[in-house]
Amino acid sequence: MKDQSLKKKKVAVMMGGLSREREISLKTGKAILKALTEKGYTVTAMDVGEDIGEKLIRGKIECAFLALHGRFGEDGTIQGMLELMRIPYTGSDVLASALAMNKIMAKKFFLYEKIPTPRFEVFQREEIKKGLQKKISLPLPVVVKPAREGSTIGISIVRKEEELIPAFKKAVEYDQEILIEEFMKGKEITVGILEDIPLPMIEIVPKSGFYDFHSKYTKGETQYILPARISREKYLYAQEISLKAFQTLGCSGVARVDLMTDENENPFVIDVNTMPGMTETSLLPKAASYAGIPFEDLVERILLKASLKIESGK
Ligand SMILES: Nc1ncnc2c1ncn2[C@@H]1O[C@H](COP(=O)(O)OP(=O)(O)O)[C@@H](O)[C@H]1O
Ligand SMILES: [Mg+2]
Repeated sequence: MKDQSLKKKKVAVMMGGLSREREISLKTGKAILKALTEKGYTVTAMDVGEDIGEKLIRGKIECAFLALHGRFGEDGTIQGMLELMRIPYTGSDVLASALAMNKIMAKKFFLYEKIPTPRFEVFQREEIKKGLQKKISLPLPVVVKPAREGSTIGISIVRKEEELIPAFKKAVEYDQEILIEEFMKGKEITVGILEDIPLPMIEIVPKSGFYDFHSKYTKGETQYILPARISREKYLYAQEISLKAFQTLGCSGVARVDLMTDENENPFVIDVNTMPGMTETSLLPKAASYAGIPFEDLVERILLKASLKIESGK
């Protein structure tokens, strides 16, 4: 969409929503709203509930900036509704959003494209509830995750045999499909991608040793090192596989790829976020700012790429 035409249009920043990451999304949404207002756009905040379709029609919304995280926001559902309503929106399309949200599906695509990702196994809620007859074949430690969540919700690191069942029980509260993944002992890193260009890489060092919900959103609980302390060769390789992960899932606009390294600094992709946190202090904006892109410009660039991704066929 052209800058000038968009400045005259009614843009909704869609935020909040129905997921467990609602509060984080409201923060992201407010930061985006402020940035776009400063840039001279006509923006309205819209909290996403089941009546969002009506709200969009009543508000005569012509373009949507998606600032939602998790279920019903990052997973293709809202994207599908906007396609049907013919309202252009920011970021990835229906399929890429759904694939990135589902860690099991995403990993299957990575395997096909030979993108390094930790070894894994899949379990169903039913078999876990029946007492898990099947033994896991990966050696401990492992990480147990629900297929579709964010913000480390429902994720446990299992170091001892007796921790396995409680970890599975926790994960099945959030999804019917559970994955267990080889625990990576090295560094945690993240790479933002902006329009097919990898941004500088950030190293994440949580004080507690586990980058869980508390470490993610509590000030001072995690140290962020920019650029990541990793050899130049491995740094470039991590950026390369992050871009490849973004492209393999078919992402558009902006995304953030989370990786872990092994003891030898070899990177492995663990998670692609099609709607990364976008407060001024969030990771992707930090990386963009380091690359010389101020927050307001970053937000405007994302908005200018808003589009419909499914042709009407008429
Ligand atoms: N295979 C792994 N090895 C070690 N730590 C992991 C692994 N997978 C996830 N983690 C830890 O759990 C956190 C959340 O996992 P992630 O797959 O990124 O899910 P989320 O969608 O919740 O961000 C990561 O940021 C990392 O700290
Ligand atoms: Mg993650």
